Amino acid sequence: MTETILANARLVLPDEVLTGSLKMTDGRITAIDPGGAVPPGALDCGGDLVMPGLIELHTDNLERHIEPRPKVDWPHAAAIIAHDAELASVGITTVFDALRVGSVTSNAKANYGEYARSLADEILGLRAAGALRISHFLHLRAEVCSETLIDELEKFGAQDRIGIVSLMDHTPGERQFRDVTQLRNYVCGKHGFSPAEFEDHVAAQKALKAKNGAVHEAAAVAAARRYGAVLASHDDTEPAHVAQSAAHGAHFAEFPTTVQAARACHDHGIKVMMGAPNLIRGGSHSGNVAAQDLAEADLLDIVSSDYVPSSLLSAALMLGDIWGDPARGIATVTAAPADAAGLADRGHLSLGARADVIRVTRVGNAGAVRGVWVQGRRVG
Ligand SMILES: [Fe+2]
Repeated sequence: MTETILANARLVLPDEVLTGSLKMTDGRITAIDPGGAVPPGALDCGGDLVMPGLIELHTDNLERHIEPRPKVDWPHAAAIIAHDAELASVGITTVFDALRVGSVTSNAKANYGEYARSLADEILGLRAAGALRISHFLHLRAEVCSETLIDELEKFGAQDRIGIVSLMDHTPGERQFRDVTQLRNYVCGKHGFSPAEFEDHVAAQKALKAKNGAVHEAAAVAAARRYGAVLASHDDTEPAHVAQSAAHGAHFAEFPTTVQAARACHDHGIKVMMGAPNLIRGGSHSGNVAAQDLAEADLLDIVSSDYVPSSLLSAALMLGDIWGDPARGIATVTAAPADAAGLADRGHLSLGARADVIRVTRVGNAGAVRGVWVQGRRVG
């Protein structure tokens, strides 16, 4: 039997923050007791926050480890292990690693090649070998404006731990790229396009969407069902997008780009996820709605670290300040994502839950993570 007691902690419970102690036995939470006493053998947390391990539904952080410099392909096992350890170090105990499916292979200058199946094999292989500290699931990001989506989806099945399929449409002029200026800066910077080449690229992408969009969308919805995965929408911009996501059965909306879309999500019972970097930087890097505005309008439910893992904890602390309710802030990165992804066994400190727990000292707007337990085992 393995047992750990974290005592004299400020426990972040579902609806309140309470001084007390928490006991983990054989991977589960087995006791929660109020009071500041430190029993023999317990770890004295000295008033630190103790909260559920954070749950990250959408991160492409692995890409930074695999390609640490442009065109440098780092050995993947080492990259995945470093990514896993980085997430543990910032308090994330469950991650849905985002992998794009749906590639463009016929455009000589702006290819988006297939990689998801082989990288999924590598992540799942390391997990099976016990090489990873935290709990990993996959999040397939299905790009409908692509050439190969159906073939790529068919390579996955119910055994692949796919928890989420999100429907993406990055066609120029739509959604995230409704304002083509943002896309021009991004694409021309990345691929070195001339203005004429950019116009050709835009025309080609629009033609691709017209040809494949509807079939791809239906295939991704069917694939999610086949995998047993939750469906998410991405970059919904207009209420009509949201109505369509609702018809597909989306559980949550990634990064709606306008207040109107976020409000429509709530009208349809769809939870709204926003990026932590957007909240921390005070706006979206692609010119869309500010996460703080949605938070103040009670239209923000879930936070994702997107491209900066450490932003998840900082954003949750900030939201607690904005709402004057620390437990509610933490819920956006624990209970809310667990619920949206259909994970009933984690995301809350309660009796019988998985003992995925972190200890945090607050330093200004940042959180210093001083202890990480996954299923009761210390991993950081
Ligand atoms: Fe997007």
